[in-house]
Amino acid sequence: MNQIKRGVLAMCMLASGGVFAADAVNLTIDTTKPGAVINKDVYGQFAEHLGTGIYEGIWVGPKSKTPNTKGWRNDVVGALKDIKVPLVRWPGGCFADEYHWRDGVGPREKRPVKVNTNWGGVDESNAVGTHEFFDLVDLLGADAYVNGNLGTGSAQEMSEWVEYMTSDSKSTLANLRRKNGHDKPFKVAYFAVGNEAWGCGGNMSPQYYSDLYKQVETFLRAPKQYRPKIIASGGNDNDVAWSEVLSKELKRQTDGISFHYYTIPTGKWEVKGASTSFQENEWISTLSNTLRMESHIQKNSAAMDKNDPEKKLGLFVDEWGTWYDVEKGTNPGFLFQQNTLRDAVVAALNFNIFHAHADRVRMTNIAQMVNVLQAMILTDKDKMILTPTYYAYQMYVPFQNATSLPVTLQNNPDYSVGNVKVPEISASAARGTDGKLYLALVNTNPNQPADVALNIPGQSVKAVKGRVLTAAAMDAHNTFAVPQAIKPAAFSAAAGADGKLTVKVPAKAVIVVAVE
Ligand code: AHR
Repeated sequence: MNQIKRGVLAMCMLASGGVFAADAVNLTIDTTKPGAVINKDVYGQFAEHLGTGIYEGIWVGPKSKTPNTKGWRNDVVGALKDIKVPLVRWPGGCFADEYHWRDGVGPREKRPVKVNTNWGGVDESNAVGTHEFFDLVDLLGADAYVNGNLGTGSAQEMSEWVEYMTSDSKSTLANLRRKNGHDKPFKVAYFAVGNEAWGCGGNMSPQYYSDLYKQVETFLRAPKQYRPKIIASGGNDNDVAWSEVLSKELKRQTDGISFHYYTIPTGKWEVKGASTSFQENEWISTLSNTLRMESHIQKNSAAMDKNDPEKKLGLFVDEWGTWYDVEKGTNPGFLFQQNTLRDAVVAALNFNIFHAHADRVRMTNIAQMVNVLQAMILTDKDKMILTPTYYAYQMYVPFQNATSLPVTLQNNPDYSVGNVKVPEISASAARGTDGKLYLALVNTNPNQPADVALNIPGQSVKAVKGRVLTAAAMDAHNTFAVPQAIKPAAFSAAAGADGKLTVKVPAKAVIVVAVE
């Protein structure tokens, strides 16, 4: 482990007119050059029919003894409301390409039981279907992102699903929706044509997918005020071919292209790494791998720029997050993993990247909301715990619909282990919808705090106030036995007599503050 060495205490003038502190990371926010609005949907969630992500995790059914509203757990829904979930993607994932929407409407006791072939081969009761999903997003006050089935479905099936959900006519399908309990059309914010078409969605080439997409999109008819944004399913990892081909072929028929990238500590799918009890080499490899999101977005956005320089199309990172080896003793098909301080740092690093690309990245969905991969909440029967990732989302709420502001970091050393290195400080700033200036800081170094000197040209800074998330151990996490082992604490710092404000960011910490 490399200890960071900085120069002796010294001050000199910055070009911007501020003072450069040689012993600190110098952070400048340019409030005169507002960037794009950070769409609230960047903080979207993903809920797939996978393991206990839906059944047991959020859905218990209306007859359950677990307190619920229309079958959805009150405790879990309440906690999710507190992080102002803006959007939920459903029903998959790989599951979406084997999901037939008619199985999930009408009386629940008459719905067919299917096999969830992707995730553990368990029974899929279809108890949660279209109407139940819209109950959930209504309870959360969120928008709906519905993923259509291209893999085993058809243009007709997707066309009819969109008609069922959005038609305000007297058509047989619209009347069936009414008979099933929903008079008014549902509001579908986004509808995707397939998922991971390069893999579980059908092992297609981007060209072949483009042709199928064009056919399907032609038949997705919805009244203007209910028309969802239609999403083309794009690439993953280093593969930019999908963004290149789809932005060229589908430019006039899509609102955006999806992209998936998961953070795996070892970088190897066969042995991914443990969620807890890891060493410092896997702390840094996880952060280093997650920071690759920046170049992935840059490359995909550059590919899209060739065909869409006006940035009409969104790049929607509709699956991202950590993916570890499953917890011992759990069903390998359920993707259940613990969630530590490291996950909160991963989330915050990604948020800072998304903010910097707010002009193109207008929606993302972390995988996944409850009990699956990098979850907000873990449940065990009636019990529920909030994860460090949950708290990262809670702390970043002021960034939803905020206007991004350019941040520059100088004198920002690398934190390194062996030959892996990452910048010590990651930051982003934005003007919130309440008019306040918000700043997020992440210290990637688990061994020592970092001083960050704030410089806002044209503005004197009196104080910063907000919250910090940190802990003694890199793998600090909440358990059902100790549910509050890690949670945010109040954080503040005030300017010195010289009018300069330096924030001491603890080791391995996430901070979100309002700047006064
Ligand atoms: O999030 C779990 C799975 O990861 C999704 O179903 C799939 O789209 C991706 O490969």
